[in-house]
Amino acid sequence: MSRPRIAVVGLGFMGARWGRAIAEHHGAALAVVADLRADVGRSVADDLGAEFVADPLEAASRPDIDGVVVCTPEDGHVDVAVTAIEAGKAVAVEKPLAHTVVDAERIRDAAEANGGLVLAGHVLRFEPRYAAIRRAIEADEIGAVQAVRSERIGLVADQDVLQGRTSVALYYGVHEFDLARWYAGEVAEVWAARSRGVVAAHGHDVEDLYSVGLSFASGAHGTAMIGWSLPPRTPGFGIAGFTVIGERGVLQVAQGTTGFQMVLDEGTVDVDVHYSPQVHGRLRGALGLEVDHFVRCVRGEQEPICTAADGVEAVRIALAMEQAATTRTAVAVGSGADTKRDAARGVSR
Ligand SMILES: NC(=O)c1ccc[n+]([C@@H]2O[C@H](COP(=O)([O-])OP(=O)(O)OC[C@H]3O[C@@H](n4cnc5c(N)ncnc54)[C@H](O)[C@@H]3O)[C@@H](O)[C@H]2O)c1
Repeated sequence: MSRPRIAVVGLGFMGARWGRAIAEHHGAALAVVADLRADVGRSVADDLGAEFVADPLEAASRPDIDGVVVCTPEDGHVDVAVTAIEAGKAVAVEKPLAHTVVDAERIRDAAEANGGLVLAGHVLRFEPRYAAIRRAIEADEIGAVQAVRSERIGLVADQDVLQGRTSVALYYGVHEFDLARWYAGEVAEVWAARSRGVVAAHGHDVEDLYSVGLSFASGAHGTAMIGWSLPPRTPGFGIAGFTVIGERGVLQVAQGTTGFQMVLDEGTVDVDVHYSPQVHGRLRGALGLEVDHFVRCVRGEQEPICTAADGVEAVRIALAMEQAATTRTAVAVGSGADTKRDAARGVSR
């Protein structure tokens, strides 16, 4: 394939970045952009030299398109993704795959039924520090993984954009659970406690913070703290990091600092140097590497590093965490199970 033609559907925070990175890419062309907001869509199309298409499903299924990137809000991925898969496109879907396991499985099942290629957009798999953990585990540098510990705690200010439209389990939890599976294998059981009130006091009816316990099928165990209730002026985009302890060593992504500081008269300014920074005029960082990977997938040169099935499991664990906190019991995750078959048999997960 020469330069595959790619469409981006949903042009907010992430879609604009995906679109820019594809437009700048030597191996692909940004052909089409789509958004329900026509003014935004036309402006991005003019800026990036693409065609604006008002109907998202038309953009996802046009015969002159090879790949589709789905960047609509969290509960709006499934119809666009399934339409694109059934039209034979290679598809990247931003995390979380969907708001329910059933919808996430619709994407996975459509890919399996159509021989389709789906990249679940878990960007941390492309962040060099998190990828280095996986590489060391694969190379057996630390022996068998005994335990994992992670934190991802954002700011109350996250709601300036999100306005309560999704849960912290599905927004941040899926990142941590995808990494936990990537490092330690399938999750067998989840238990959790949670608190609320801080974000609610800012007008959004969502939980603040979860403390989570995980046990893995391998016998490994782990914890995670997941939330978005830190004060609006918390520096460095919040708290994040990951520790993996193996039988012969430890791997750790440092917590709490980006390693870069900009201080002006008005105070410290947070600058993204890891995820989608501009480097010599191009969008790079973890998202740049993810876009490189997706382009190679569309060109038939690589298989997705994070599949639709992986995306389903991250959603399954995130929702199990919510259930565990609600019921105050440990919840069996049943990774790899098929929810529709279970529902037909009267089993709930
Ligand atoms: N990987 C990451 O680090 C990361 C970071 C932020 C957001 N995300 C994920 O990316 C996705 C998009 O989030 P965002 O922050 O860009 O949201 P956003 O609200 O900034 O943008 C969403 C865009 O989609 C448009 N839209 C809504 N419904 C649509 C539809 N049916 N068809 C076409 N366009 C539609 C909206 O008009 C808006 O422009 C979410 O799943 C989110 O969780 C990922």
